[in-house]
Amino acid sequence: ANVVGQLIKGKLNSPKTNPDDLAKGEGAVVTLDGHRKGAYRDDDGKIHIVDTTCTHIGCEVEWNSGDRTWDCPCHGSRFKFTGEVIEGPAEKPLQKYDYTMMDNLTSEDS
Ligand code: FES
Repeated sequence: ANVVGQLIKGKLNSPKTNPDDLAKGEGAVVTLDGHRKGAYRDDDGKIHIVDTTCTHIGCEVEWNSGDRTWDCPCHGSRFKFTGEVIEGPAEKPLQKYDYTMMDNLTSEDS
């Protein structure tokens, strides 16, 4: 079992947005097969999925629609929609997923 996933589920307000419903330039926390992920659709229509667990010490990043970044409320780390670090203290990028692969990953899980 994925302990991090279980902890996260417990404190979530069950986000429901489907990545396919995102408009270009829009980002949101979504639930993919029970897993909390960050989704963003870029101006070309491509969907980018990242893990919302901050790589500093594990708070949940939030979507910043003004800057189109994932920002951590705990110590201020900021990440691009592709997961790369913009500002620390986090040093590692957010884990990134291929949206197509994500389906495969989650179906193997269940
Ligand atoms: Fe995200 Fe510290 S846990 S900045």
